[in-house]
Amino acid sequence: MNIDKLLNGKKLAESLNTTLKQEIYELVKKTGIKPKLAAIIVGDDPASEIYIRNKHRVCNEIGIGFESFRLPKNTSKEDVIRVIEKLNEDNSIHGFLIQMPIPPHLKSFISEFVELIDPKKDVDGFHPLNKGYLFDYREELIPCTPQGIIALLEHYKIEIERKNVVIINRSNLVGKPLVFMLLKRNATITVCHSFTKNLFEHTRRADILIVAVGQANFINEEKIKEGAIIIDVGINRVDGKLCGDVNFDSVINKCGAITPSPGGVGPLTVAFLLKNTIKAYKKILKSSNLI
Ligand SMILES: NC(=O)c1ccc[n+]([C@@H]2O[C@H](COP(=O)([O-])OP(=O)(O)OC[C@H]3O[C@@H](n4cnc5c(N)ncnc54)[C@H](OP(=O)(O)O)[C@@H]3O)[C@@H](O)[C@H]2O)c1
Repeated sequence: MNIDKLLNGKKLAESLNTTLKQEIYELVKKTGIKPKLAAIIVGDDPASEIYIRNKHRVCNEIGIGFESFRLPKNTSKEDVIRVIEKLNEDNSIHGFLIQMPIPPHLKSFISEFVELIDPKKDVDGFHPLNKGYLFDYREELIPCTPQGIIALLEHYKIEIERKNVVIINRSNLVGKPLVFMLLKRNATITVCHSFTKNLFEHTRRADILIVAVGQANFINEEKIKEGAIIIDVGINRVDGKLCGDVNFDSVINKCGAITPSPGGVGPLTVAFLLKNTIKAYKKILKSSNLI
């Protein structure tokens, strides 16, 4: 494998977490207040369990408290709202999120739930106020995966300005926030989705190709430009093994650089959740003149 071409998200995440751990140590020494993240989990989705365990473990490692608020699969909308209100009021919690997916009967209320989260504690960056800031190029609490992608490009000194960036994804989690973050950095952006005509004509022009489709082997060497930077956000399970959306072996000789999946964008998503938690913690403490 050509190791020079690897954009090692895992390594960058470890380094960001180490820096954050030191900052947390100093902040707690000064204020006596430990930062704390909470997650609302509805039902018992097995993938959610893995994500939560992972978040909990990394929080422990770097000195952030973590608490899960578990609700049964048949929970009512009102019960979810009660927990959101409780976490908004709880001064010991500085940030919280609703772990996705939530059971089908609650899906249509997601926007309502998110709007009820105190925007100061919205560590996923999904509240309309935080989304609005981003529209204005203000990066307050913004979604973690796009932050990880930008951090990785910047860490490896991959130029964004003037580049043709093609994103295959238009979700609130990945594609939409990336548009504003990349526009702010003077890229030219094409957003593709399931209605895009001649999709691979777009991907073959990309200087930077960001793929978050959720289908293994969606991109191979025929679909990219020579020297393209490939960010593989996808996480798929094939024959019990995790893989991304890009056929790594097929593109490795042709691309300029690539994120592995797993070990690329995933660890950075968690690292930026922790960074958002500390951003929220500092803002909350500052507003009470505690730092
Ligand atoms: N590494 C990480 O930390 C991380 C974080 C978040 C997500 N992910 C992964 O990223 C993937 C996407 O996540 P998501 O939550 O954004 O999912 P999503 O909401 O389902 O988005 C998938 C996107 O791909 C587009 N798409 C699907 N099939 C397509 C096709 N044949 N041609 C062109 N576009 C197509 C969809 O288009 P439409 O909008 O038209 O449906 C949609 O915009 C998943 O594999 C997820 O596990 C990874």
